[in-house]
Amino acid sequence: MRIDILSVVPQLLESPLNHSIIKRAKEKGLVEIFIHDIREYGKGNYRQVDDYNYGGDAGMVLMIEPVYNLMNDLKKEREYDEIIYMSPDGELLNQQVSNTLSCLDNIMILCGHYKGIDHRIREHLITREISIGDYVLSGGEIAAAVVCDSIVRLLPGAISDETSALSDSFQDNLLSPPVYTRPAEFNGWRVPEVLLSGNPKLISQWQEEKALERTRLLRPNLLENSGK
Ligand code: ADE
Repeated sequence: MRIDILSVVPQLLESPLNHSIIKRAKEKGLVEIFIHDIREYGKGNYRQVDDYNYGGDAGMVLMIEPVYNLMNDLKKEREYDEIIYMSPDGELLNQQVSNTLSCLDNIMILCGHYKGIDHRIREHLITREISIGDYVLSGGEIAAAVVCDSIVRLLPGAISDETSALSDSFQDNLLSPPVYTRPAEFNGWRVPEVLLSGNPKLISQWQEEKALERTRLLRPNLLENSGK
């Protein structure tokens, strides 16, 4: 899979996309992630990429030209399955959206900044808009990193124990059961006995019960259409 991210603040993306599971997935050749600085396509000596908002409201707007030219250069090289704009107006990211995106070959992600982006970009160049939650961030970069992380960990081989991504919270519309590690007792707080029993059947039964119990308690909305 290949992900191209377009940003005016590419530095914001460096750390989140170069550590841990994403770093290992890149090293294993499961994903290539390229970060493009929109400013390199900016106009004039100052590499201008933003301009005043027609209509007079305060705040600068990302211009269409540099974005269009950068996208065009990328599109000359390959076909993109989705060209995503990160925006609080978009469809809410959930596990199902991440699963779907993780099956694609080429994704482009545009991060907004300033007051917004020229609406013609959204009308003519973008195929999908995604929000990571009902709050406004200063730009789309952190949201794009969230999307990348949630996709890359799903790629087969990205996580050493392949079942691990499948047992994540939200796969099945359930939260994960609690997990524990050694010591079996700390400060008088004991790990549930069943987990020490060595009986896989009893353990998975307990895990299913706990997953359901936690979901009922914390996120009952997840169960509404699941038949559980
Ligand atoms: N850009 C600004 N806020 C955002 C959000 N909540 N989700 C995605 N992109 C954003």
